[in-house]
Amino acid sequence: MGFEGRDILSTEDFTKDEILEIMEVSARMEELARTKGVSNLLSDKIVAVIFLEPSTRTRLSFETAIRRLGAGCITVADAKTSSAAKGETLADTARTIEGYVDCIIVRQPMIGGAKLMADAVSVPVINGGDGPGQHPTQALLDLYTIKKETGRLEQLKVAMVGDLKYGRTVHSLSYALAPFLPERYIFCAPDALQMPKNIVADMKAKGITCQQTSGLEDALEADILYMTRIQRERFDNPADYEKLKGSYILTREILEKGNKEITVMHPLPRVDEISTDVDDLPNAAYFRQAHNGVFLRMALLAMIMGRA
Ligand code: CP
Repeated sequence: MGFEGRDILSTEDFTKDEILEIMEVSARMEELARTKGVSNLLSDKIVAVIFLEPSTRTRLSFETAIRRLGAGCITVADAKTSSAAKGETLADTARTIEGYVDCIIVRQPMIGGAKLMADAVSVPVINGGDGPGQHPTQALLDLYTIKKETGRLEQLKVAMVGDLKYGRTVHSLSYALAPFLPERYIFCAPDALQMPKNIVADMKAKGITCQQTSGLEDALEADILYMTRIQRERFDNPADYEKLKGSYILTREILEKGNKEITVMHPLPRVDEISTDVDDLPNAAYFRQAHNGVFLRMALLAMIMGRA
Protein backbone atom coordinates (compact mmCIF):
# COMPACT_ATOMS: atom_id res chain seq x y z
CA MET A 1 0.00 0.00 0.00
CA GLY A 2 1.38 3.44 -0.91
CA PHE A 3 1.15 6.47 1.34
CA GLU A 4 -0.70 8.94 -0.87
CA GLY A 5 -4.22 9.57 0.45
CA ARG A 6 -3.73 7.17 3.35
CA ASP A 7 -5.14 7.59 6.87
CA ILE A 8 -2.67 7.36 9.78
CA LEU A 9 -4.74 5.70 12.51
CA SER A 10 -2.70 2.98 14.25
CA THR A 11 0.85 1.66 14.23
CA GLU A 12 -0.65 -1.80 13.69
CA ASP A 13 -1.24 -0.71 10.08
CA PHE A 14 2.46 -0.35 9.06
CA THR A 15 4.91 -2.87 7.69
CA LYS A 16 8.60 -2.78 8.59
CA ASP A 17 9.48 -1.44 5.13
CA GLU A 18 6.89 1.31 5.43
CA ILE A 19 8.28 2.36 8.81
CA LEU A 20 11.81 2.43 7.38
CA GLU A 21 10.55 4.60 4.50
CA ILE A 22 8.98 7.00 7.00
CA MET A 23 12.30 7.15 8.90
CA GLU A 24 14.16 7.94 5.67
CA VAL A 25 11.75 10.71 4.66
CA SER A 26 11.87 12.14 8.21
CA ALA A 27 15.66 12.43 7.93
CA ARG A 28 15.24 14.28 4.62
CA MET A 29 12.65 16.57 6.23
CA GLU A 30 15.03 17.29 9.10
CA GLU A 31 17.68 18.31 6.56
CA LEU A 32 15.12 20.42 4.67
CA ALA A 33 13.95 22.17 7.84
CA ARG A 34 17.50 22.82 9.01
CA THR A 35 18.76 24.14 5.66
CA LYS A 36 15.72 25.87 4.17
CA GLY A 37 13.57 26.61 7.20
CA VAL A 38 10.35 26.83 5.22
CA SER A 39 9.73 25.14 1.86
CA ASN A 40 6.82 25.41 -0.58
CA LEU A 41 6.28 21.63 -0.88
CA LEU A 42 2.63 21.87 0.26
CA SER A 43 1.97 25.53 -0.55
CA ASP A 44 -1.30 24.61 -2.33
CA LYS A 45 -2.65 22.59 0.63
CA ILE A 46 -4.63 23.42 3.78
CA VAL A 47 -4.65 21.16 6.84
CA ALA A 48 -7.18 21.12 9.71
CA VAL A 49 -5.82 20.53 13.21
CA ILE A 50 -8.77 19.59 15.42
CA PHE A 51 -7.78 19.06 19.06
CA LEU A 52 -10.68 18.29 21.40
CA GLU A 53 -8.30 17.22 24.22
CA PRO A 54 -5.36 19.22 25.66
CA SER A 55 -2.00 19.13 23.86
CA THR A 56 1.22 21.09 23.60
CA ARG A 57 3.64 18.93 21.60
CA THR A 58 1.40 17.12 19.13
CA ARG A 59 -0.64 20.14 18.09
CA LEU A 60 2.20 22.64 17.98
CA SER A 61 4.66 20.31 16.25
CA PHE A 62 2.01 19.49 13.64
CA GLU A 63 1.35 23.20 13.14
CA THR A 64 5.10 23.83 12.86
CA ALA A 65 5.41 20.98 10.35
CA ILE A 66 2.51 22.40 8.31
CA ARG A 67 4.11 25.85 8.23
CA ARG A 68 7.58 24.47 7.40
CA LEU A 69 6.01 22.74 4.39
CA GLY A 70 4.38 25.99 3.26
CA ALA A 71 0.79 24.75 3.80
CA GLY A 72 -2.09 26.64 5.39
CA CYS A 73 -3.54 25.57 8.71
CA ILE A 74 -6.92 25.92 10.43
CA THR A 75 -7.12 24.94 14.07
CA VAL A 76 -9.48 24.00 16.88
CA ALA A 77 -7.39 24.02 20.05
CA ASP A 78 -10.17 23.84 22.63
CA ALA A 79 -13.24 21.60 22.49
CA LYS A 80 -15.28 24.33 24.20
CA THR A 81 -14.84 26.66 21.22
CA SER A 82 -16.01 24.17 18.57
CA SER A 83 -19.50 22.88 17.84
CA ALA A 84 -18.49 19.60 19.53
CA ALA A 85 -19.60 21.52 22.65
CA LYS A 86 -23.11 21.75 21.12
CA GLY A 87 -23.24 17.99 20.62
CA GLU A 88 -22.10 17.71 17.00
CA THR A 89 -20.91 14.20 16.16
CA LEU A 90 -17.35 13.46 15.04
CA ALA A 91 -18.66 12.20 11.70
CA ASP A 92 -20.60 15.43 11.02
CA THR A 93 -17.59 17.53 12.06
CA ALA A 94 -15.39 15.53 9.67
CA ARG A 95 -17.90 15.74 6.79
CA THR A 96 -18.03 19.51 7.20
CA ILE A 97 -14.29 20.08 7.45
CA GLU A 98 -13.43 17.87 4.48
CA GLY A 99 -14.97 20.57 2.30
CA TYR A 100 -12.40 23.06 3.63
CA VAL A 101 -9.10 21.16 3.71
CA ASP A 102 -6.83 18.49 2.20
CA CYS A 103 -6.11 16.60 5.44
CA ILE A 104 -7.60 16.39 8.95
CA ILE A 105 -5.53 15.83 12.10
CA VAL A 106 -7.63 15.02 15.15
CA ARG A 107 -7.21 14.37 18.87
CA GLN A 108 -10.32 13.40 20.81
CA PRO A 109 -11.12 11.18 23.82
CA MET A 110 -12.91 8.17 22.29
CA ILE A 111 -11.04 4.99 21.24
CA GLY A 112 -11.73 4.60 17.50
CA GLY A 113 -12.90 8.22 17.09
CA ALA A 114 -10.27 9.04 14.47
CA LYS A 115 -11.23 5.93 12.47
CA LEU A 116 -14.88 6.91 12.68
CA MET A 117 -13.97 10.29 11.15
CA ALA A 118 -11.74 8.66 8.52
CA ASP A 119 -14.60 6.36 7.51
CA ALA A 120 -16.86 9.40 7.02
CA VAL A 121 -14.61 11.38 4.66
CA SER A 122 -12.39 11.01 1.60
CA VAL A 123 -9.51 13.27 2.72
CA PRO A 124 -6.79 11.56 4.83
CA VAL A 125 -7.23 11.62 8.61
CA ILE A 126 -4.33 11.48 11.06
CA ASN A 127 -4.98 10.23 14.59
CA GLY A 128 -3.33 12.65 17.02
CA GLY A 129 -4.43 10.50 19.97
CA ASP A 130 -7.76 8.73 20.52
CA GLY A 131 -8.24 8.60 24.29
CA PRO A 132 -6.44 5.56 25.74
CA GLY A 133 -6.28 3.94 22.27
CA GLN A 134 -3.42 4.85 19.92
CA HIS A 135 -1.04 7.74 19.23
CA PRO A 136 0.68 6.59 16.02
CA THR A 137 2.61 9.76 15.15
CA GLN A 138 4.10 9.77 18.66
CA ALA A 139 5.30 6.17 18.26
CA LEU A 140 6.82 6.92 14.85
CA LEU A 141 8.70 9.92 16.22
CA ASP A 142 9.80 7.68 19.10
CA LEU A 143 11.28 5.26 16.56
CA TYR A 144 12.97 8.13 14.73
CA THR A 145 14.45 9.24 18.06
CA ILE A 146 15.58 5.71 18.99
CA LYS A 147 17.31 5.37 15.61
CA LYS A 148 19.07 8.70 16.05
CA GLU A 149 20.07 8.07 19.67
CA THR A 150 21.19 4.42 19.42
CA GLY A 151 21.88 3.95 15.70
CA ARG A 152 19.46 1.03 15.39
CA LEU A 153 15.90 -0.21 15.77
CA GLU A 154 16.59 -3.95 15.91
CA GLN A 155 17.15 -6.22 18.89
CA LEU A 156 16.61 -3.63 21.61
CA LYS A 157 15.61 -4.22 25.21
CA VAL A 158 12.82 -1.68 25.72
CA ALA A 159 11.36 -0.92 29.15
CA MET A 160 8.03 0.94 29.30
CA VAL A 161 7.22 2.34 32.73
CA GLY A 162 4.15 3.97 34.29
CA ASP A 163 0.58 3.93 33.05
CA LEU A 164 0.64 1.12 30.51
CA LYS A 165 -3.12 0.50 30.77
CA TYR A 166 -4.37 3.88 29.56
CA GLY A 167 -1.12 5.06 27.92
CA ARG A 168 -1.80 5.29 24.19
CA THR A 169 1.86 6.10 23.49
CA VAL A 170 3.08 2.75 24.86
CA HIS A 171 0.32 0.87 23.04
CA SER A 172 1.42 2.42 19.75
CA LEU A 173 5.13 2.00 20.52
CA SER A 174 4.71 -1.73 21.26
CA TYR A 175 3.24 -2.32 17.79
CA ALA A 176 5.60 0.08 15.97
CA LEU A 177 8.77 -1.61 17.27
CA ALA A 178 7.46 -5.17 16.97
CA PRO A 179 8.57 -5.67 13.31
CA PHE A 180 12.14 -4.92 14.44
CA LEU A 181 12.05 -7.89 16.83
CA PRO A 182 12.93 -6.34 20.19
CA GLU A 183 15.09 -8.63 22.32
CA ARG A 184 12.60 -8.03 25.12
CA TYR A 185 9.81 -5.73 26.30
CA ILE A 186 9.90 -4.97 30.02
CA PHE A 187 6.43 -3.73 30.99
CA CYS A 188 6.82 -2.01 34.37
CA ALA A 189 3.61 -0.76 36.01
CA PRO A 190 1.53 -1.05 39.16
CA ASP A 191 -0.72 -4.12 38.86
CA ALA A 192 -3.77 -1.91 38.22
CA LEU A 193 -2.06 -0.16 35.28
CA GLN A 194 -0.35 -3.08 33.52
CA MET A 195 -0.25 -3.38 29.73
CA PRO A 196 -3.63 -4.63 28.36
CA LYS A 197 -3.69 -8.42 28.02
CA ASN A 198 -4.55 -8.30 24.31
CA ILE A 199 -1.43 -6.25 23.54
CA VAL A 200 0.82 -8.57 25.59
CA ALA A 201 -0.73 -11.54 23.77
CA ASP A 202 -0.16 -9.87 20.38
CA MET A 203 3.51 -9.23 21.22
CA LYS A 204 4.06 -12.80 22.43
CA ALA A 205 2.40 -14.10 19.25
CA LYS A 206 5.02 -12.13 17.29
CA GLY A 207 7.73 -13.97 19.23
CA ILE A 208 8.70 -11.10 21.53
CA THR A 209 9.63 -11.91 25.12
CA CYS A 210 7.48 -9.81 27.46
CA GLN A 211 8.53 -9.37 31.09
CA GLN A 212 5.84 -7.87 33.34
CA THR A 213 6.98 -6.32 36.59
CA SER A 214 6.14 -3.60 39.08
CA GLY A 215 9.77 -2.96 40.07
CA LEU A 216 11.56 -0.02 38.45
CA GLU A 217 14.92 -1.74 39.11
CA ASP A 218 13.97 -4.37 36.48
CA ALA A 219 13.72 -1.61 33.87
CA LEU A 220 17.20 -0.19 34.43
CA GLU A 221 19.01 -2.84 32.40
CA ALA A 222 17.15 -1.84 29.22
CA ASP A 223 18.61 -0.05 26.20
CA ILE A 224 15.56 2.24 26.09
CA LEU A 225 13.82 3.38 29.27
CA TYR A 226 10.47 4.84 28.20
CA MET A 227 8.87 6.62 31.15
CA THR A 228 5.21 7.70 31.10
CA ARG A 229 2.93 9.75 33.29
CA ILE A 230 0.18 8.29 35.50
CA GLN A 231 -2.71 10.09 33.76
CA ARG A 232 -5.09 11.73 36.20
CA GLU A 233 -7.60 12.42 33.41
CA ARG A 234 -8.12 8.70 32.65
CA PHE A 235 -9.38 7.76 36.15
CA ASP A 236 -13.13 7.75 36.90
CA ASN A 237 -12.43 7.74 40.64
CA PRO A 238 -9.93 10.43 41.82
CA ALA A 239 -9.09 8.26 44.86
CA ASP A 240 -7.67 5.57 42.54
CA TYR A 241 -5.39 8.17 40.95
CA GLU A 242 -4.28 9.41 44.39
CA LYS A 243 -3.27 5.83 45.32
CA LEU A 244 -1.13 5.37 42.20
CA LYS A 245 0.37 8.79 41.50
CA GLY A 246 4.08 8.98 42.21
CA SER A 247 4.48 5.20 41.76
CA TYR A 248 7.72 5.69 39.84
CA ILE A 249 10.14 8.59 40.17
CA LEU A 250 13.34 8.22 38.16
CA THR A 251 16.24 10.13 39.73
CA ARG A 252 19.86 10.51 38.71
CA GLU A 253 20.83 8.32 41.69
CA ILE A 254 18.52 5.49 40.57
CA LEU A 255 19.68 5.79 36.96
CA GLU A 256 23.33 5.46 37.98
CA LYS A 257 22.57 1.91 39.20
CA GLY A 258 21.49 0.80 35.70
CA ASN A 259 22.85 0.43 32.18
CA LYS A 260 25.24 3.35 31.64
CA GLU A 261 24.27 3.51 27.94
CA ILE A 262 20.52 3.62 28.62
CA THR A 263 18.48 6.13 26.59
CA VAL A 264 15.77 7.79 28.69
CA MET A 265 12.66 8.78 26.76
CA HIS A 266 9.26 10.19 27.71
CA PRO A 267 6.44 11.36 25.41
CA LEU A 268 5.89 14.28 27.83
CA PRO A 269 4.31 16.08 29.58
CA ARG A 270 5.89 14.79 32.78
CA VAL A 271 4.57 15.40 36.25
CA ASP A 272 7.12 13.98 38.69
CA GLU A 273 8.13 10.66 37.13
CA ILE A 274 11.52 11.93 35.97
CA SER A 275 13.38 14.12 38.43
CA THR A 276 14.82 17.28 36.87
CA ASP A 277 18.29 16.18 38.02
CA VAL A 278 18.19 13.67 35.12
CA ASP A 279 17.63 16.39 32.50
CA ASP A 280 21.24 17.34 31.87
CA LEU A 281 22.55 13.77 31.56
CA PRO A 282 23.50 12.85 27.97
CA ASN A 283 21.14 9.85 28.32
CA ALA A 284 18.11 12.15 28.72
CA ALA A 285 16.62 12.21 25.22
CA TYR A 286 13.08 13.42 25.96
CA PHE A 287 13.38 17.02 24.80
CA ARG A 288 15.27 15.94 21.66
CA GLN A 289 12.43 13.40 21.20
CA ALA A 290 9.83 16.20 21.35
CA HIS A 291 11.80 18.25 18.79
CA ASN A 292 11.97 15.28 16.39
CA GLY A 293 8.17 15.37 16.21
CA VAL A 294 8.31 18.22 13.70
CA PHE A 295 10.44 16.27 11.18
CA LEU A 296 8.43 13.06 11.51
CA ARG A 297 5.15 14.96 11.08
CA MET A 298 6.52 16.88 8.08
CA ALA A 299 7.36 13.48 6.54
CA LEU A 300 3.91 12.01 7.14
CA LEU A 301 2.13 15.08 5.75
CA ALA A 302 4.31 15.13 2.64
CA MET A 303 3.90 11.38 2.12
CA ILE A 304 0.13 11.25 2.44
CA MET A 305 -0.18 14.20 0.09
CA GLY A 306 2.04 12.50 -2.48
CA ARG A 307 4.87 15.05 -2.28
CA ALA A 308 7.65 13.13 -0.50
N1 CP B 1 3.36 13.56 23.70
C1 CP B 1 2.18 14.21 23.56
O1 CP B 1 1.23 13.71 22.95
O2 CP B 1 2.18 15.45 24.13
P1 CP B 1 0.94 16.47 24.09
O3 CP B 1 -0.18 15.83 24.87
O4 CP B 1 1.47 17.74 24.71
O5 CP B 1 0.55 16.63 22.65
